[in-house]
Amino acid sequence: MFASSPEITSPPTVLVTGAAKRLGREIALKLAAQGWRVAVHYRDSVEEARATAEDCARLTTGAQAFRSNLGNETAVRNLLPTVIAAFGQVDAVVNCASTFEHDTTASFSFAVMEKHMRSNAGAAILISQALHTHIAQRSKKQPEVRGVVVNLLDQKLWNQTPDFVSYTLSKAALDAANAMLALALSPLVRVVGVAPVMGQHKPLLIGDRLAYRSASLPNQQNTDLDTTAAVLLALQDISISGTTLLVEEELPTDKPQAPAPVAVPFVPPARRHGRR
Ligand SMILES: NC(=O)c1ccc[n+]([C@@H]2O[C@H](COP(=O)([O-])OP(=O)(O)OC[C@H]3O[C@@H](n4cnc5c(N)ncnc54)[C@H](OP(=O)(O)O)[C@@H]3O)[C@@H](O)[C@H]2O)c1
Repeated sequence: MFASSPEITSPPTVLVTGAAKRLGREIALKLAAQGWRVAVHYRDSVEEARATAEDCARLTTGAQAFRSNLGNETAVRNLLPTVIAAFGQVDAVVNCASTFEHDTTASFSFAVMEKHMRSNAGAAILISQALHTHIAQRSKKQPEVRGVVVNLLDQKLWNQTPDFVSYTLSKAALDAANAMLALALSPLVRVVGVAPVMGQHKPLLIGDRLAYRSASLPNQQNTDLDTTAAVLLALQDISISGTTLLVEEELPTDKPQAPAPVAVPFVPPARRHGRR
């Protein structure tokens, strides 16, 4: 299945966490269609993960499903080495898996907060770290080799509501980790956030965040397609690191909407500074 010298001949390989269904599946399929070999991570959705891997395999040269509970540190630490053992190399990680349980400040508990923090922030940090170790190892033979991590964030960080407290805290932690990892893992591994901004029009620039809107995508109504395009952009554009692409999306609605902002060409974002 694998070339004898994967460093030289293999197509790039990406691990997409939470890729059995929904957005993770769309990202996996998008990357497979671009020729990436895809490691489809899942936890409980066995059949869906198998289906995603099979669908990816129809588009690219390699796809396989990998099970791991990202709330368990040992399992998290084992995940990337397992994928590397299967594919020979990993070039990118998309941290998409996410615990998403409802709570409020009234129902808040340490237990629920910890559950979200583990899978949504802690796991992403450990997997990023593992990718850096792997890329550092490969770079001894191939100095030009580089890796990239994409962290799925959430527009809720910039448009607060008083619900999903633990989830939001975990995404805020991941947002902070996104910047710290970008600094810590540079220059071998770039780290980019992608935050879907759904349901309403937002300014194209929020603080120092660049909102990315692809005028070329025909289906602006599909919430997942624009995000997958942003993930692909983050993987491909070597000038982006340490910042977050805000993906403007539109949900179908009966309510009248303001005119859509004009699409702008992509410009590499300025270095982050003092958002809060
Ligand atoms: N969908 C949206 O509207 C939206 C908006 C803003 C941001 N986002 C972000 O985009 C990403 C994808 O969103 P989504 O709605 O597609 O996600 P989702 O359906 O809520 O979750 C994706 C997957 O995460 C996995 N997961 C959850 N806890 C896990 C754990 N402890 N260990 C391993 N896997 C775990 C689950 O895998 P199994 O099913 O295999 O257990 C689940 O299928 C998330 O990071 C989310 O925060 C989504």
